[in-house]
Amino acid sequence: MNDLDQLVSAAQAEFDAAPTPAELENAKARFLGKSGRVTDLLKGLATLPPEQKKSRGAEINQLKARIEAALQSRRESLAESELQAQLRAEALDITLPGRRRGTGGLHPVSRTIERIEAIFASMGFDVAEGPEIETDWMNFTALNSPKNHPARSMQDTFYVDLKDAEGAWMNLRTHTSPMQVRYAMAHAAKYRGVDPMPEIRVIAPGRTYRVDSDATHSPMFHQCEGLWIGANVSFKDLKVVFADFVRQFFETDDFDVRFRPSFFPFTEPSAEIDIAFRSGPLAGRWLEVAGSGQVHPNVVRNFGLDPERHIGFAFGMGPDRLAMLRYGIDDLRLMFDGDLRFLSQFR
Ligand code: DAH
Repeated sequence: MNDLDQLVSAAQAEFDAAPTPAELENAKARFLGKSGRVTDLLKGLATLPPEQKKSRGAEINQLKARIEAALQSRRESLAESELQAQLRAEALDITLPGRRRGTGGLHPVSRTIERIEAIFASMGFDVAEGPEIETDWMNFTALNSPKNHPARSMQDTFYVDLKDAEGAWMNLRTHTSPMQVRYAMAHAAKYRGVDPMPEIRVIAPGRTYRVDSDATHSPMFHQCEGLWIGANVSFKDLKVVFADFVRQFFETDDFDVRFRPSFFPFTEPSAEIDIAFRSGPLAGRWLEVAGSGQVHPNVVRNFGLDPERHIGFAFGMGPDRLAMLRYGIDDLRLMFDGDLRFLSQFR
């Protein structure tokens, strides 16, 4: 191996040892730069006699070409490994499943309320909504529960740190019944002087609150109020309407309805409405589904109407209970825990 071959091997070794493009360029300078070893050789040509110059010059040029080739190939391999490293670093695993945006669904109680609304709307009932923070008068007094009357203790009330215009504590409504009063008062005002007054036919679903919590009671629950007032509306109409509702709601004819005498301050007479399916898992068991009654004359007076001329019935039922019966749910608390494993079954 002559001196030139050694120089090529030396360059090759230094190029191969350069770990980065920058260090490779430094190594290049040591051979091909201004004061590099190849440049020194070319400068040395000047000292040679003319007859040697030509052949030595050709050899050095060849050497230079071999070193440049070695440099180029190292440049390419460094660029290639840099590219590979970058590809590795930026790799996307396209086999990873995407993150889905879950589809929402209506809560079983919302579905039930929508169902109740659709059925009563088909029977000519309006749908009304009202406030959940209620005055003492609307929630109790107007419904024939005077202050200090024992009937008020049927409902364990949440009071709110707020007083109404009469100085009474406001409450979280304990039932949707105050909506009878709000709706009927507005109706009476709207049709004042119109004779005969158009009938009142309304349901009012919504949230209600009581100090109560166990497997069958939640401090927040739902009710749906119903009110039908006309010149001559009676229990027979209530029975027909309610049975028709049950038939449509549960999609069956195979049940019995009974009215069981009861007491509510705002109705007289009052009755619980029970139903019993004749077949299926609940066959033969009487299930209480609503309270009801003929609206008390005092309450009709509070509507702003004459109880001698306006008569009718009211009922209040529990959409939570109806949802549980319809879907076969046995613990009310499941409804309000917000557990998606439960809720997603109703999507
Ligand atoms: N408000 C009653 C309750 O919460 C339910 C009720 C009973 C409503 C009889 C009515 C009715 O409209 O007529 O227990």
